[in-house]
Amino acid sequence: MSQSQQLKPTFQIDSVVRDQDSIRVNWKDGHKSTYNNLWMMDACRCPKCFQHDTLSVNPGNNPITMPLDPETKAIDVDGDGNLKVVWDKQEGGHESVFDSSWLRVHCQSEAGKGLKRNLWDKELDIPTFEFDEVIQDDNACFEWLDSIRIIGVSIIENAPKNEAAFRQLSARVWFLHTRYHPSNIFMLDTTDKVAQKIQHAYKLDHLAGHTDLTAYTDSGVIQLLHCLKYEKPNQEEAGGESIIIDGFKIAQVLKDEYPEYYAQLTQKHAPGCRRRMVAEEKVLQDGGKAIGNSTGDKTIGTYAWDSYRLNHVIKLNESGQPVEVRFNHNTRAPFSMSHDEIRGFYEAYSKFVELTSSPKYIKQFLLKPGQVLICDNARALHGRTEVGSTVLRKVQGIYVKRESFKSRWRLLLGLKTGMTDFWLTGCTDHALKTLADRHA
Ligand SMILES: [Fe+2]
Ligand SMILES: [Zn+2]
Repeated sequence: MSQSQQLKPTFQIDSVVRDQDSIRVNWKDGHKSTYNNLWMMDACRCPKCFQHDTLSVNPGNNPITMPLDPETKAIDVDGDGNLKVVWDKQEGGHESVFDSSWLRVHCQSEAGKGLKRNLWDKELDIPTFEFDEVIQDDNACFEWLDSIRIIGVSIIENAPKNEAAFRQLSARVWFLHTRYHPSNIFMLDTTDKVAQKIQHAYKLDHLAGHTDLTAYTDSGVIQLLHCLKYEKPNQEEAGGESIIIDGFKIAQVLKDEYPEYYAQLTQKHAPGCRRRMVAEEKVLQDGGKAIGNSTGDKTIGTYAWDSYRLNHVIKLNESGQPVEVRFNHNTRAPFSMSHDEIRGFYEAYSKFVELTSSPKYIKQFLLKPGQVLICDNARALHGRTEVGSTVLRKVQGIYVKRESFKSRWRLLLGLKTGMTDFWLTGCTDHALKTLADRHA
């Protein structure tokens, strides 16, 4: 049985028609596609045009020498059900073969299609996944990554309460993101009096919903927070519950109900800053060299830093969709705008703070030992309630690049398609998702 026989009709070519400047494909599900000759010649995967070993375009496939009106001599559907094109002699006389599934997801009617994401509020049922399954099973790992793509948050259950397990989980995706700090894993520990003097997030006060790294150029990370300990020796004192807010939901509410504020927050900038004083602090062992320590403890060192960055609170992509939310109350810097602008911007800014502080949009829960909370830092604001002074809470945290999550998601999705690297390279996310479901 040839491969095409196992495909859904959507991916099977019924007939092909050669026009002057294009090829029309009639599909077995009734859909019709038109492929421009120039587009096809440019996308040609023959060895002359495309390097089969590196999956890169050959230098010979050059826009300078590409004929703008290439002509075909003959077209056909080959024995595997794929489109075969024989180019006219003056176009180099070469032949192209286009995989039918690949061709279908490159139909113009697919152009610009994105994948759906779900917006949420306090009612969110956070998707949960088992540590062992995510580590051992590619499908479970894919479902975990897919949930972060759709929702922006998830929880891993039953992670062994140690650093090695935490590293194993992040390695399931990719390498750790190098932080702007000598250590790549950070430890939020309610007993760490040194850290409480250096970083606001280590203090026990209420920590409002925020995104991390607003003072830095690269905030495109997924944050993993692994709870190692939560004890309340004094039953009267509790707190330290996690809060999360969907920044894209807030953006949608602003767009629908307060379009003027939405315009302000998507067009004007709010600065973020981070200046760390030279102070001794805990630097975990994977970090750089501890400098100037006075205690004799090699994991204690000094470290200073100073960043400043202008941010859109809501950043839009080229099609006007929110792609990133950057907001952190504690790392705000004085606004950098004219006297005429400040009032209007501040109104919009305070509405954003009001919405992200509203119980309607805050999902609150206790992160328990053995649980890992995963937040897409470009979307989900995170924080926690005030921690009682006797509460013992220990949470280790890391960042993994957002791009790495996406990459692992694409690689695992690619496996489901049963297609080769050769055809998978250059497919949109939407195309990959469609191809993963191409078999009958
Ligand atoms: Fe944070
Ligand atoms: Zn070619």
